[in-house]
Amino acid sequence: MTSVEICPAQPNAFSLLAEAALDRSPVGGWTHNFYRYPARFSPRFAAAAIECFSRPSDLVLDPYMGGGTAIVEGMIAGRHMVGNDLNSLAAFITRVKTTALMKGEIAAVRQWAAKKIRTFNYLQPIDDLRFFVDPIKTTNLTLVRARFIKKLVAAALASITELPTQPCRDFTKCIVLRVAQWALDGRIRHTPLADFREKLRLMTDEMLRSIQGFGERALRSGGGVTIINSDASRLCESAVFQNGSQKASLVVTSPPYPGVHVLYHRWQVDGRRETPAPYWIAGCNDGQGGAFYNFGDRREAAADTYFRNSLNTLKAIRRVMKTGSHIVQMLAFNRPEDQLPRYLHNMQEAGFSELPICGRHRIWREVPNRKWHASLGGKTHSSREVVLVHRTI
Ligand SMILES: C[S@@+](CC[C@H](N)C(=O)[O-])C[C@H]1O[C@@H](n2cnc3c(N)ncnc32)[C@H](O)[C@@H]1O
Repeated sequence: MTSVEICPAQPNAFSLLAEAALDRSPVGGWTHNFYRYPARFSPRFAAAAIECFSRPSDLVLDPYMGGGTAIVEGMIAGRHMVGNDLNSLAAFITRVKTTALMKGEIAAVRQWAAKKIRTFNYLQPIDDLRFFVDPIKTTNLTLVRARFIKKLVAAALASITELPTQPCRDFTKCIVLRVAQWALDGRIRHTPLADFREKLRLMTDEMLRSIQGFGERALRSGGGVTIINSDASRLCESAVFQNGSQKASLVVTSPPYPGVHVLYHRWQVDGRRETPAPYWIAGCNDGQGGAFYNFGDRREAAADTYFRNSLNTLKAIRRVMKTGSHIVQMLAFNRPEDQLPRYLHNMQEAGFSELPICGRHRIWREVPNRKWHASLGGKTHSSREVVLVHRTI
């Protein structure tokens, strides 16, 4: 097949993509606000990339899906989405955001909210809840502004066990996860009990409405999803791509960034103390340091490990893509002057060539409200992101 047969980019693809990439409206719509995943990209950008470079029913891959922005948008647009991430929390969140609930399950969650939320309080001895508290995954939740919330979350997790099905329990865990993130992560003041309960009620309503709307729309458009929790360099081994039976017509993604350390796996409580609490609430495995999720250690100034890992995964991604298909990426650099050419060199070595129009007019955008840490002192460029569009050769 030639590239033109697979998917001709729309003639105005570049301007559509630029307009979407530069859009500064806050993230919202569908199930996007189920969790504030760090360094998530804008749904509008993901939707534009999918619209411009693929067709309905195509298999579209995001090998670093994070909170699943592209997966949600692709399903809405009737694509079969494959989402992968090595972070088990990302897999949990994306699964909840893309799993429609049955009527009975929606009713059960409503009933849970109506009956249980008012019973969560600070008075219950934490010993009664010890079965629901993982001492390692609640590190630093003993600190003064966090320990009351820890008790409320433990009570919520205990009540969730009574819900009838796994999708129902996971959905409700995600409500608690979202509210606990709001109450703990980067919070300077203590969250009062009444506010915590009120936020739980509001989020339950909002998230139930969103999942209903999403489920109906994805069903109408025929969108589907496969979620993989693996290192992107092993994509070939996953059942969807095994033996080369299927290949992706498009990749839309945002990989880890060179020289930019993002806290994908921790919240910060009481100042900047890190906690793995999101894994406790979601019931996921953790146990990895920041370098695991960022392609290397932030203290490695030359970022050689980053570029080695990036090349390996780019080659693996190329192997599961059709010849002549596109890969659209959004990424940031700590030192764009030397890291961008190195990244482009990796792309070439992995079997991609940059679309000429995009190479000549790369789209750069300022990043609003991002929470990440550049590894090197001094002036950093990591608050700007660039869009790269390549084709497989
Ligand atoms: C910039 S984030 C993606 C955010 C996503 N676009 C969103 O909208 O939420 C990059 C993701 O890459 C994942 N990641 C890092 N190394 C990986 C690897 N080797 N294989 C798969 N995923 C990896 C991280 O866990 C993180 O979720």
